[in-house]
Amino acid sequence: MSHAALAQHGVLTDPTEHVEYLTFVVEDVPEAAAVAEAMSRLTNISHSIRQKDTTAALTLTIGFSANGWSNLFPDQPMPADLHPFVELRDGPRHFPSTPGDIFIMVKSHRLDLNFQAAKYLAPGFAPIARLIDDTPGYKYLDDRDLIDFVDGTENPHAAERQAAVLNMEEPYPGSSYLIVQRYVHKTDKWEAQSVAEQEGVIGRTKFDDIELDDAVKKPYAHNVRSKVEIDGVEIKMLRQNRAFGNVLEHGTMFVGFAKSPAVIETSLRQMIIADEDGNYDHLLDFADAVTGMNFFVPPKAFVDQFA
Ligand code: HEM
Repeated sequence: MSHAALAQHGVLTDPTEHVEYLTFVVEDVPEAAAVAEAMSRLTNISHSIRQKDTTAALTLTIGFSANGWSNLFPDQPMPADLHPFVELRDGPRHFPSTPGDIFIMVKSHRLDLNFQAAKYLAPGFAPIARLIDDTPGYKYLDDRDLIDFVDGTENPHAAERQAAVLNMEEPYPGSSYLIVQRYVHKTDKWEAQSVAEQEGVIGRTKFDDIELDDAVKKPYAHNVRSKVEIDGVEIKMLRQNRAFGNVLEHGTMFVGFAKSPAVIETSLRQMIIADEDGNYDHLLDFADAVTGMNFFVPPKAFVDQFA
């Protein structure tokens, strides 16, 4: 079996036209049978809705926090790198750590199918967890964030993507780690800048989505601060970000997968903590992180055992 086939289907695929993110908290330790029942519903809902329109590419991807895992699967080994989201703060910038024990990412090209899946998932998981958030996200223009820059360009592809995202270690080969943050944009402040200033913040051109030359790139650019390099070698993650919201409140769901949370945690530290020259990621002047959650995304076989 190829490594890619070991993963849940939504992990390695690109984000779809529509996506719906469900966050649950586990409040009591449920019976093993109740957990198994909820997990089997996940598979049933996925099968029955996906076949209505296979061109919509519906996938349901589930992840668990450290607290969720220990309460739901006390007999299964704790994933080695699973721990709560690490809160970070520097100056006025803050990455909060917020509740979330089960995260289900519903991806498809159809808003209606995603809603229907979510509508059945909520009662399916209600016996073991409480739904605290349901955020629909969407593709905006040519894969732009709501700051109007193309997002996802530097994502890895094919074999490089698999290597970046899949953790092949026992006992869960084909698993991944996921970090999610919801960012609310300060659109008025962002749009008060010139296009050249915005390009300085992102490190790419706005219209054509071309990386700025190193000679002109700002030390506070998002693509400078977020890039992770160890001994000169770039370590990639896969971002499946999507826009969310309406004109009153909107932003970016940062949805980052990697074989280890350490990759994304390094990126987050580089973004928020100012270096000796006072440089931090200036994108954070225009967006507030309002959630922060870490999840372990088990392999497909783990989910299928309950089917
Ligand atoms: C408001 C939230 C965010 C927005 C609007 C945003 C937007 C963008 C945009 C427009 C790009 C350039 C195009 C691309 O290569 O994809 C980019 C690149 C990138 N972002 Fe973000 N991003 C956000 C949050 C984050 C966070 C929280 C992380 C890491 C934890 C992150 C990591 C990266 C990385 C690694 C790149 C590629 C850098 C490179 O190698 O050039 N981003 N992001």
